Amino acid sequence: MTNRIPETVIEEIRQANDIVDVIGDYVQLKKQGRNFVGLCPFHGEKTPSFSVTQEKQIFRCFGCGKGGNVVSFLMEMESYSFYEALQHLAERSGKELPDTGVKKESSLSQESQSILSAYEWVTKLYHHLLRYAKDGKEGYQYLQDRGLEEDTIDAFHLGFAPNAKDFTAEFLEKKGFHRQILVKAGLVSLLNDNSVSDRFRGRVIFPIRNHLGKTVAFGGRALGEDQEPKYLNSPESDLFQKGKLLFNFDLARKYIRKEGQVILFEGYMDVISAFQAEVRNVVATMGTALTEYQAKLLKRYVDTVIICYDGDNAGVEATSKAADLLRTVGCDVKVARIKDGLDPDSFIQTYGKEAFQNEVIKASETFIAFYMRYHRKAYNLNLEGDRIKYIEKMLEQLAMIDSPVEREYYVKELSKEFDISMDTLIGELENYQNRNKKQQDKSEKNRYTNSSSAPVRNKKLLPAFQNAEKKLISYMLQDATIAEKVREELGAAFNVDEHKIIATHLYAFYEDGHSADVSLFIERLTDQKLNQIVIEIAMTPVIDDISDKEINDYIKVIRAQANDVTDIQSLKSQQRMAERQNDPIKAAQIAKQIIEIQKQLKNTN
Ligand code: UTP
Ligand code: MN
Repeated sequence: MTNRIPETVIEEIRQANDIVDVIGDYVQLKKQGRNFVGLCPFHGEKTPSFSVTQEKQIFRCFGCGKGGNVVSFLMEMESYSFYEALQHLAERSGKELPDTGVKKESSLSQESQSILSAYEWVTKLYHHLLRYAKDGKEGYQYLQDRGLEEDTIDAFHLGFAPNAKDFTAEFLEKKGFHRQILVKAGLVSLLNDNSVSDRFRGRVIFPIRNHLGKTVAFGGRALGEDQEPKYLNSPESDLFQKGKLLFNFDLARKYIRKEGQVILFEGYMDVISAFQAEVRNVVATMGTALTEYQAKLLKRYVDTVIICYDGDNAGVEATSKAADLLRTVGCDVKVARIKDGLDPDSFIQTYGKEAFQNEVIKASETFIAFYMRYHRKAYNLNLEGDRIKYIEKMLEQLAMIDSPVEREYYVKELSKEFDISMDTLIGELENYQNRNKKQQDKSEKNRYTNSSSAPVRNKKLLPAFQNAEKKLISYMLQDATIAEKVREELGAAFNVDEHKIIATHLYAFYEDGHSADVSLFIERLTDQKLNQIVIEIAMTPVIDDISDKEINDYIKVIRAQANDVTDIQSLKSQQRMAERQNDPIKAAQIAKQIIEIQKQLKNTN
């Protein structure tokens, strides 16, 4: 397992990777008080209950209960083994894991590992051919004609697959790959006579990378406009699912984070052209409609999505669908308009990068503006009936806008255009708003009665001694001297078994010479249940400065509980004894005493 990587190395790597940064690669985190909060990546939610503390270097979701440190986050998020998570962190911080000879366990199947490795080889091969070889010249020429510069070609590792029957198959078989794997990877096809042929022949290759930057598929572009299909893609596999992946997400991620918004395209070339035009927070779907999975993924990273689809009819229809989906998952949607029915790539080639940045991206319209324009087509505004229906449809949509300024702006537009007074329109708008509110209240109510979907918040009041134990452990976790004091005065005499074990581990942890470090402590604690208890305790805020007196009070409460419990236990055995000795009066007296103590316990708890 983990134990052969020296602890000092693990420590060094952990310290070089701030948990807020690492989780920030997956979740848009916003500062809230001392913590950072965001949408939990482990369960679906619309309001953030996922919390990260920089101070303690741990995270916890108050919705689904998952928690841990930077290493366990990656293990959960990427299904990494401990070793892989460390390796990821090492790479991220420019460090190297020492070669310990530990068998490098992988979370991926043998088959998936081979497929990744095959793609890595072929990506390099095809890219090399395109850039430097005679066999790839056609491809290079093609991309140059489409306006791509060398830097761009290199950044995307674009390549060319030569038009030969089994060039790739032979190359890979020589490297030791089995035929079966190559067929499964979709790099070669199996023919009827059991021979193989390369799948991407005479095509320009667009490597499709997953969010970790590993190539998991190819899109192969035909050179001629009449060759079918225009793009030939790798088949879906465990590693490549079109509906879950976004083209260029790995490169775009840091720009998306910086800009707080993402631009969504339909095509590979749109992304690549925009990238070359220095617009880099760009991703694309892969020839399929945006899925809910992708929409939710984006929502986790940004608030605003700018949809930049083709300017033709199909593009506008797709925009409307994608916008609806993005809005249901809670994104703020904007729509970039491309004139002349062009697609983003051809717009950039025709009008240049400044025009694209300023007249398309910066000038993108609000969802409502798009919505008004889009729905006009369905109505004949010369007819009174249609006009009314149109206005009502717009008001219904406007009622859902949160910003009063934006709302008023569009109501004014409607008022001017259709010559209806603001008062009338606002009155009608309010009707819609009230209706929405009623519906919301209803669904809120449902939410609370439907216990299965309610978050697992710890709402019930705990008895005083349990509270005292938690508080005390919380202080012990953040201060070794408090832990020492508690050890001397209370030792392991906590009443809750788990607390007892945690305290004992914590004493040992400090004895080993560690200073207070929750993140490291939970890494040492192998028991998952204890781990979660520690995280929950550590994530519950406590006041920073605690006096000796308060500590003593907690200790007292904990001791009293323990004493009372011992008293009751001993009285109960005396009671049994009296009963056995046929002394009902004595037994009754003892019973009375027990009830007294129990009553007291109840009162103090
Ligand atoms: P488009 O037909 O809009 O192509 O398809 P494009 O992006 O403008 O491509 P160029 O500029 O002609 O080279 C949009 C996306 O749909 C997928 C691809 O992902 C493409 O980028 N597609 C399209 C396919 O998978 N197969 C096809 O045959 C066509
Ligand atoms: Mn195009």
